[in-house]
This record gives sequence, C-alpha cells and structure tokens, in this order.
Amino acid sequence: MRRATAEAGINIALIKYWGKRDAAENLPDVGSISLTLDDLVTRTTVRFDPALERDRFVLDGQPRDDARVVQLLDGIRAIAGVMHRASVTSKNGVPTASGLASSASGAAALATAAWAAAGLDPDTAVDDPRFIDLVRKGSGSAPRSLLGGLVELEKTRGRVQQLCAEDAWDLRMLVARLTKGPKKTSSRAGMALTKQTSPYYAPWVESHPADLVEARAAIVDRDLPRLGAVMERSTCRMHACMLAADPPLRYWRGITLDVADAVEDLRAQGIGAWYTMDAGPHVKVLCAAADADQVRATLQSLVPPEDVLEAGPGPGARIVD
Ligand code: PMV
Repeated sequence: MRRATAEAGINIALIKYWGKRDAAENLPDVGSISLTLDDLVTRTTVRFDPALERDRFVLDGQPRDDARVVQLLDGIRAIAGVMHRASVTSKNGVPTASGLASSASGAAALATAAWAAAGLDPDTAVDDPRFIDLVRKGSGSAPRSLLGGLVELEKTRGRVQQLCAEDAWDLRMLVARLTKGPKKTSSRAGMALTKQTSPYYAPWVESHPADLVEARAAIVDRDLPRLGAVMERSTCRMHACMLAADPPLRYWRGITLDVADAVEDLRAQGIGAWYTMDAGPHVKVLCAAADADQVRATLQSLVPPEDVLEAGPGPGARIVD
C-alpha cells in the first residue's frame, strides 16, 4: 500500500482563459497568466490499495462519483504500471464549484498526490508532458496551480512556466465571496456555449495575445498599475464575450458591480486596487500588500467580514506527507 498527501493552492487568472481549441485534450484557444495563492488550498491524500475493487473519492466528507478523478488515476496507473484502485480523500479550503477555482487546486493536488503514491518522482512531475496533460484534462486551469507565484499557461501545448516566484513580489489578492451556492453553468459548458454562439468569440481570441504581451512586460517591470489595468481589461473582454452568447451567459450579480465600483473608487482615491471575476459572481481584488488593509475595509463595508478572504502569492503543488 502506497500513500501520499499533496496540497495545492487555488490560482486566480489575471489574463483570462475562456474557450477550448480541443475539448478532448482540454487545450485552450488562448493562453493565460495567473497568481497561485498561499491560502485557499486543497489537501488530497491518495492511497493505492490492493483490497479495493473500485476507486473511492471523498470530497469534504461526502463520497462522490467523479469520472474525471478516475480518468486522472487511470492515466497515472498506466504511466507507473500500478494496478491497484485508490482511495482519495480531499478537502477544499474554498467552496466547491462556486467560481473560486477549487477545480484547479483539486486537480493539481490530486495529480501530485497520485503521482507520488504511484512511486513516481513529484519533483520532476511538472517537467513531464504526460503529467501536465493529465492535470489539464482534469481542469483546464489546473496546470497553473502546479507552480507558485505568477504563472503562464501557453496555449499551443498547454505547458506552464513561472513568470515571478511567490516571494519575489509582495502582492495580495482579496476575495469578496458574494454567494455560497454552486455556480449555475460550469466553465466547461459555458466555454462551449460561448465558442458556438458568441459573435465576439473570434475577436476575443484575436485580441488576446496582446494582453499576454502587456502582462508579461508589466511583470518583468513589477509594474502593478500596468498589470492591474490589463487584468481588468482581460476580465471585461472575457465577460463581454460570454454576455454575447445565445442564451447570454452572465455570472455577475448586482453586488458584483457594486464591488467593482468600490474598487474603482479606491483607485480614484489613489489606492492601487484592481478587480477580476471568473465563472461566478465573486470579485477578486489585486493590490500591493501595503494597501491590503484599506482594500479589506472597503470590501467589508459591502459584504460580511467573514466573506472577505485574503491571500498572498503561494507555492506550487507539493507533497506534504
Ligand atoms: O479551469 P476551468 O475549466 O474551470 O476554467 C477556468 C476559467 C476562468 O476561471 C473563468 C478563467 C481562468 O483563466 O481561470
């Protein structure tokens, strides 16, 4: 019996990924750049057990049937030559399927734990294309959680690269959690609908590379106003593209826009803060560590204090036990 436990932080995209080029391989139509967070982690234990007849998956205490978990385990079994079924226990630091990217940290933690439990070397996993392919098939944005700090996922082969280490730039991401239930449309379904029906999909894909270029340059220069501006632009372009789908896909609620307005007001007062939203109503705010207290106070004037989460840049997926 072999067992390993891994942790992976969620990652929040600054330059957004929306749309797949190849649904089977889960390859994106656009690249993306994200920040891996040090809080809001998924912790997953995988144990290959000769006594088990089928894979078992327990998420936050609830047994689940999840074809993607079995697919990922099958891939690792094939690479490592392991026959046994696995017991998988996972705990999410963020609400599952709420637009807070728990699927990314989940797939990254699961793959890393299973890789090590199968006797493969977790330290070189991120350099192994077979590993990245399996993680990406689990969740399109999950490879970004394999590395710490600011990370780019390139679109051609779906590989990841670190652009800025987690300890090299003192950033903060504050999350205003605006609803608790699961999101209404999965990102997978939402992306397919947008690609099929939005007349803005082609312009989204065409205009996207310039945002990546701008963000890379801002990261090299550690220029937060420049990075924040391109993050908001990429966010709004992604949502504009979804809003034009048929039927329209709208993840925002009224409160989402109230929080975005408050972030713009902060900037008008000279505080560097920029918003982003994903496939859910929540707003994530990027700022320098020095401004985090003021940003948190503003967010807490709009939502209950316990719904404002704060995290800094975190490490990539790692074995913890
Ligand atoms: O990893 P997925 O398939 O849940 O897609 C993530 C999509 C967004 O969160 C909306 C954007 C992104 O790049 O993370």
